[in-house]
Amino acid sequence: MPLYIVRNDITKMQVDAIVNAANHTLLGGGGVDGAIHLAAGQELLSECRTLGGCETGKAKITAGYNLPARHVIHTVGPVWQGGGQNEKELLASCYRSSMELALERGLESIAFPLISTGAYGYPKDQALRVALGVLEEYVLKYEITVYLVIFDKTSFCLSEELFSRVASYIDDGYAAVREEEEGQRRERQMTALSYVKRAARPKKHDWSILSDSAPTPDGAERELARLLEELDESFSRALLRLIDEKGMTDVQCYKKANVDRKHFAKIRKDEFYRPSKPTVLAFAIALELNLKETEALLKKAGFALSSSSRFDLIVKYFIERGNYNVFEINEALFAFDQSLLGA
Ligand code: APR
Repeated sequence: MPLYIVRNDITKMQVDAIVNAANHTLLGGGGVDGAIHLAAGQELLSECRTLGGCETGKAKITAGYNLPARHVIHTVGPVWQGGGQNEKELLASCYRSSMELALERGLESIAFPLISTGAYGYPKDQALRVALGVLEEYVLKYEITVYLVIFDKTSFCLSEELFSRVASYIDDGYAAVREEEEGQRRERQMTALSYVKRAARPKKHDWSILSDSAPTPDGAERELARLLEELDESFSRALLRLIDEKGMTDVQCYKKANVDRKHFAKIRKDEFYRPSKPTVLAFAIALELNLKETEALLKKAGFALSSSSRFDLIVKYFIERGNYNVFEINEALFAFDQSLLGA
């Protein structure tokens, strides 16, 4: 099932479980821990008292009480001490233990904060990579919907280097559009000028094309038939054809596209399904199409890549570099306040 990155207050999430970035005592604190206990009410603390604390990297589950979420999974992240005290493995273990607990209980949806990136000082971009690295594994393997909940934009940052590379790519893309528009404007002026000149000349008609004896060479007929065939192929027919051509299964494809099962079933059932552009591009990424193939698939759904759209430029950036990891692309899209692929 898909992995969503959302801006929200985790205490508002209507999911089977929200994850709490707790401390060893499990008896509450500040940050997200404080917010969860405040929203859940006194009974949460009473149940936590019975758990006997929790070790770093481990997770324990309670009811959600007054929260919209049915459960709270409490986990204790590592305190950042420079990276040499096994922090990365311990942080990954927080996400893994929480996911394992959710799967054990048959939960279908779970929301995480960015564990350890507040009071525990874990560098946000590194923590994000660790979180997504573990969560991707689970959403590709299991039917569980996962939310990574970003409370405030400052607590979400892409690695500086990737952020600036994508930002300059977007600027170059915009510059190219301005140049192209300038070129088109000049061309329109030239065309208007040549049209005026031509209108002054006497007309000469070539009637031969009307004679039905004019043979159309076989190749042209084949080309026409192929074009008509292509024209008739709907988006969903093209998608199913490409899945077969790539030797993928439906499940592999929609998971790699970060699209959920029900959404894919709708596309498969309705030959004239009209997908959104992010959905088309999500499948282009899942199928690892190059730019030309991506444009062709977009055309089936009536879309085209545009250099004046940040969203398109960011997806183009990753396709041109052969990076088809939909979760990494979504990280960049989220960082630039764009809608996400698939989910
Ligand atoms: N919803 C979602 N995310 C939130 C919320 C919220 N309501 N409140 C804070 N966050 C985010 C912060 O922006 C940060 O990115 O949660 C992330 C984790 O920050 P902390 O809550 O400080 O957790 P952590 O860094 O793991 O430190 C845990 O702090 O609150 C105490 O008792 C807790 O001792 C423990 C320590």
